[in-house]
This record gives sequence, structure tokens and C-alpha cells, in this order.
Amino acid sequence: MTDLSFPKLPGGLPDKRQVAASFSRAAASYDSVAELQRDVGGQLLHRLPQAFVPRRWLDLGCGTGYFSRALGERFPDGQGVALDIAEGMLNHARPLGGAAHFIAGDAERMPLRDATCDLIFSSLAVQWCADFASVLSEAHRVLKPGGVFAFASLCVGTLFELRDSWRQVDGMVHVNRFREFNVYQQLCAASGLRAISLENQAHVLHYPDVRSLTHELKALGAHNLNPGRPGGLTGRARILGLVEAYEQFRQAQGLPATYQVVYAVLEKPL
Ligand SMILES: C[S@@+](CC[C@H](N)C(=O)[O-])C[C@H]1O[C@@H](n2cnc3c(N)ncnc32)[C@H](O)[C@@H]1O
Repeated sequence: MTDLSFPKLPGGLPDKRQVAASFSRAAASYDSVAELQRDVGGQLLHRLPQAFVPRRWLDLGCGTGYFSRALGERFPDGQGVALDIAEGMLNHARPLGGAAHFIAGDAERMPLRDATCDLIFSSLAVQWCADFASVLSEAHRVLKPGGVFAFASLCVGTLFELRDSWRQVDGMVHVNRFREFNVYQQLCAASGLRAISLENQAHVLHYPDVRSLTHELKALGAHNLNPGRPGGLTGRARILGLVEAYEQFRQAQGLPATYQVVYAVLEKPL
């Protein structure tokens, strides 16, 4: 049984300043490689309750604002706030519009008043929050009764091919840690929000070689920032070891990279 009193991931997640700095640096390259992110956010939009028309919405962890603009188009009479911890992302998103306000903030401590939002939409951001129970409690606080918190996140099994390949080379942590799906289930059940839907779906991308995958992760700002990650230069022998280990996963379409995506639509009871 998972211990709910210990919502932080084993070993912890990277320092938030590092997360913000890494995503800020990636703001210019992010959209050119964010195919999976667009697909996942699109699926999350699709899962919103039919005929649900929020007046005030929040795009939590908005990144370059792709989904702030999609939300703005879908709900033209609504008023949107786009929030992110990375100033560089906000600076990129702000001129492109979609939301009325672009604000810096942390999903674990949202700088918003109680009961002010009808919808919180968050695609592929909360996997960066070590204290997901706080995100849920903040969502509960900020939502109006009847409001919806829709999020997509990542769980264990994500990038397992890269993790296993590195483990064969040096046994070190090279891939960000993710919560178990059952921890998402338990934390959501304990949040006071009612689950309209909560499920886990695998998305598998393919790459011609390992370098294409690791370059993409870097361009997304999502490369490994874990405490305990190996420091210093990556030696040629270790890279060759990684390439050889990853080749064991090769399929007809190329080298697979699996993302285990959690999709949740939660409602604050009336
Ligand atoms: C993978 S990007 C997703 C961006 C956007 N939602 C999309 O789907 O394209 C993750 C975003 O979450 C933001 N983020 C990470 N931790 C956060 C936190 N604690 N609070 C708010 N935003 C955070 C990052 O700065 C980054 O812009």
C-alpha cells in the first residue's frame, strides 16, 4: 500500500529554480519538437465535459501557451489566466495571446483567490510537482463549486527504455522519476474532488537513433534534472554503451520511447 502521508517522489524532484530555468531556456525550441505534448493536450481538451462552458479558466503550467490559445478559441466568452513557473515560457507566450493574464507562479501555491475558476486545465506540467497533494488541494481551493480540474501528467513507465538502457551502462539515475498511477488514483480520491474520469494511456514515439531522442528531450527542457544525476562529461564509451543497450528495444518503426500518460477530469462537488 502506498503511503499517502509521503506524497513526494522517492529521492525528490529537482529544485524548482532548476525546472524554471530549464524550461525558460527551452522556450524558443519547445514548439518545434512538442508533437506528443500537442497530442496529449488535444486529447485532454477532448475529455472536457460536453457542453461545459467555463467563464473563468486557468491554464496551469501553460508553457508556450499553445493550449491557452486553444482554450481562448474554444471559450471565446470566457476569461483566461495562463500560469507558469518559468518566466522564459511566459515571455514567449504573452505576445501570442489566448489568455487575458500571463502570470508567474507555482502549481503547488497558486497565486489566485479562493473559488474564482470554473476550469483548471493542465497538460504535462504537474509531473514536475513533487507535492501533488498540494496541487490538488490548491485546485480544490481555487475552483468554484461545480468547477473542473482536467490534467494530463506522466506516471511510472515513462521513458522506461532510456532508463533501462542507462541502468545497463552505469546503474545511475538518468531519467526523471515519475509517480505510480495508483498514487495518482489515491491522491485524487483523497482530494475532495470527484473523478469524472481517471485513466492511464501509453503513447509510443519512435526515433531513428538515441541522439534524436536525447536532443528532443533537451529542446523540450525536459531532460534529466534529478538530484543524484551523474555530473560531468558523458564519456564516449558510456554513450556507445547506451546506444548498444537501447538497440535491444528497436522495432520496425525505429527506437521506441514510451510515455505513460495519466488523463484526469475531476469535479469540485456543488
Ligand atoms: C512540458 S511543458 C507543458 C507546457 C504546456 N502545458 C503544453 O502542453 O505545451 C511543462 C510546463 O510546466 C511548467 N511547470 C513546471 N513545474 C511547474 C510548477 N510547479 N508550477 C507551474 N508550472 C510549472 C514548466 O515551466 C513548463 O512550461
